[in-house]
Amino acid sequence: MKRVLTGIQPSGVLHIGNYFGAIRSTVRLQEECDDAVVFIADLHSLTVQPKPEELRERVRGVAVDFLACGLDPEKVIFFRQSDVNVVCELMWILNCQTGVGLLERAHSYKDKIAKGFAPNNGLFSYPVLMAADILLYHANLVPVGKDQKQHLEMTRDIAIRFNQQYGDVLTIPEPYISGEVAVVPGTDGQKMSKSYNNTIEIFGEPKAIKKKIMSIQTDSKGLEEPKDPDTCTIFALYKLFATPEQQAEMAERYRAGNYGYGHAKLALFDAYMDFFAPMRKRREELLADPGYVDAVLKRGAERASELAHATMDEVRKAVGLR
Ligand code: ADP
Ligand code: TRP
Repeated sequence: MKRVLTGIQPSGVLHIGNYFGAIRSTVRLQEECDDAVVFIADLHSLTVQPKPEELRERVRGVAVDFLACGLDPEKVIFFRQSDVNVVCELMWILNCQTGVGLLERAHSYKDKIAKGFAPNNGLFSYPVLMAADILLYHANLVPVGKDQKQHLEMTRDIAIRFNQQYGDVLTIPEPYISGEVAVVPGTDGQKMSKSYNNTIEIFGEPKAIKKKIMSIQTDSKGLEEPKDPDTCTIFALYKLFATPEQQAEMAERYRAGNYGYGHAKLALFDAYMDFFAPMRKRREELLADPGYVDAVLKRGAERASELAHATMDEVRKAVGLR
């Protein structure tokens, strides 16, 4: 049996780029494999020192949003990373196997330095904590986006080195590319990202969402002119929500002329609302029942702890701590 594992950073309000780029494929994992582990990587987010209250809120927000988007805690072990704190012990042990040169080559670390961040040791050793996350649960497959691929390669290097020194204790994971590498454009046509202030949230207020959709940038073709759907951000977003027939219909209207960008934006807004309606409803229910979300995370942490403690017994024995 293959175990799939992934972590999500609680880094802000979720947008539709996150949904189509990451959340949907994570939720689908539960249908595709019998053994899935998903956690909220709150320890990783400390590297950028969020305000304590904000971090607590975001962790809760991500938990609620993932459950609303269909993550089923009966099928997936879903928990908060910091609730299974032996991950920090494993990280220390792995730190002692990790060359400084390896970490110095991390793109994410180099990017942060290039952006003028004063790097802390947490940021530097971020990939080692990620390795500990993966190796603690003997994960076989780790779904990753392009930006995380190097971190996974580092996990493999660290685990191989550990096994060479101490015997076959750790499972060497493989990256898992889900095949849905859509880059969702933002309202300005660049990649949608919270750092670019061009996002459309998954669970935003309908009025605010409508305003954002109406602000999507287009060329200045007039109402009557024929338009090219394939270079238009509105159409690129509409495709995410619409059936192939609906897409063909809108493309036809673009090409025929007498169809304005305003019309397309309203169609996009309706499609967005229809698509997320069941998830919004579920989210309201979850928000009304905070005890349920707490219980899900607690149960997830218990199940994850069992797996983690079994691994730690083997690791401690292997390195001579027991
Ligand atoms: P942001 O760029 O808003 O900071 P994150 O880096 O926190 O988003 O991304 C979280 C997850 O969502 C990652 O797996 C990332 O690949 C995915 N993701 C983010 N933005 C997009 C996008 N515009 N298109 C596709 N996937 C995205
Ligand atoms: N670093 C990942 C990200 O920023 C989150 C993460 C932490 C993770 N630990 C992990 C992903 C382990 C996969 C496996 O998106």
